[in-house]
Amino acid sequence: MRTLMEEELFPSTPGKVKIERAHQMNRQLNRCFASTSIMFLWALFLIALTASYLSFQSFVSTSSRLFSSSSSSASSWGGLQWERQVRASASHRRSSGFTVLVTGAAGFVGSHCSLALHKRGDGVVGLDNFNSYYDPSLKKARQSLLSSHSIFIVNGDLNDARLLSKLFDVVPFTHVLHLAAQAGVRYAIENPSSYVHSNIAGLVTLLEAARSADPQPAVVWASSSSVYGLNDKVPFSESHRTDRPASLYAATKKAGEEITHTYNHIYGLSITGLRFFTVYGPWGRPDMAYFFFTKAILAGKPITIFRGRDRVDLARDFTYIDDIVRGCLASLDTAGKSTGSGGKKRGPAQYRIFNLGNTAPVTVPTLVSILERHLKVKAKKNVIEMPANGDVPFTHANITLAMAELGYKPTTNLEIGLKKFVKWYLSYYGFTQTGPTSTNL
Ligand SMILES: *[C@@H]1O[C@H](CO)[C@@H](O)[C@H](O)[C@H]1NC(C)=O
Repeated sequence: MRTLMEEELFPSTPGKVKIERAHQMNRQLNRCFASTSIMFLWALFLIALTASYLSFQSFVSTSSRLFSSSSSSASSWGGLQWERQVRASASHRRSSGFTVLVTGAAGFVGSHCSLALHKRGDGVVGLDNFNSYYDPSLKKARQSLLSSHSIFIVNGDLNDARLLSKLFDVVPFTHVLHLAAQAGVRYAIENPSSYVHSNIAGLVTLLEAARSADPQPAVVWASSSSVYGLNDKVPFSESHRTDRPASLYAATKKAGEEITHTYNHIYGLSITGLRFFTVYGPWGRPDMAYFFFTKAILAGKPITIFRGRDRVDLARDFTYIDDIVRGCLASLDTAGKSTGSGGKKRGPAQYRIFNLGNTAPVTVPTLVSILERHLKVKAKKNVIEMPANGDVPFTHANITLAMAELGYKPTTNLEIGLKKFVKWYLSYYGFTQTGPTSTNL
């Protein structure tokens, strides 16, 4: 019993060792605790240091945002030098000349219209985000061309409301020629949101800036012949149905027609929508068939020609760029003034929609044979049935309305227009892409 107690109170030798170990552990723990509290202090110190650094950082970035107007977007705009450039570009040289904001100014139609406006003495300020939907170096080259004529293109996005309101603050634009858009029918399958971003959200941002501006500008903008969609009455007339789009691109352009109507109705913005029919020519868009056919033919690569159902050739009402430019300028010239001010409508404002086409549809095989002749190279053709990707089998414009109201009269046929395109293409890209097959003809 005693032994038991002893054993309980004083355990066997191994137990003694345990006690000694426990003492040792206690000492270690004490040391450990001491060092932990030091570590804890260090940690506190580091946390305080980090916190003060972070708050200093946010102070610095806040103040840089306060003192520089360009830090919040990826594009570079703002500052005195920038404002000086914008004002200089906006000044017109003819009496009662226009001051036009051209969106998509580094684009195909935008660059041509900017040059034409500037040449006749109007003031032009361009806006472009230089996105990479197609080779941005072509956009940069167009920008250089405009720059050599003292036309300044603001590098910024249509969706940047602060930029737009700044532009309207700096310059009292008389007109907006809104040509910036996400183009292309098939690309909508790959990247649908870019169509909503540019053609709907961007359009609304622009219209908001325009309706708030004082004075309100008149707006001329690019809709599209694609709004006719599944309409099969020919030639396409402005009064025909446009409620059956065949692509998301067409749907966003149709939405644009309805959205601009709303801004016309509520705020008194003068609106002219232009339904372009397959615009082509020098400095054109590389995503267009005539453009990439040219590249492929010169490179000796096969081209894919789509054919409609029942072996019907696809046809397009190809419209030469100079004719489109004349239609755009005539639209600006005949645009009524917006009637709103301070965001309120003072009276009904003009709302117009015009077809700008060529009234002479040409089939894609004919397009290719014209290119073959001008390039002096035979094309390797792959003819396949058109997949259901949003393309319509044909377009054909009735331009009676534009003729009557704008004096629009296209003068360049596809033969002449493609000749000018090929001449430009070869001078811009050179013959380097031709390769050995260039001696075929
Ligand atoms: C073209 O449109 C006008 C209305 O703008 C119409 O009067 C005319 O009949 C149309 N022409 C054809 C050939 O459909």
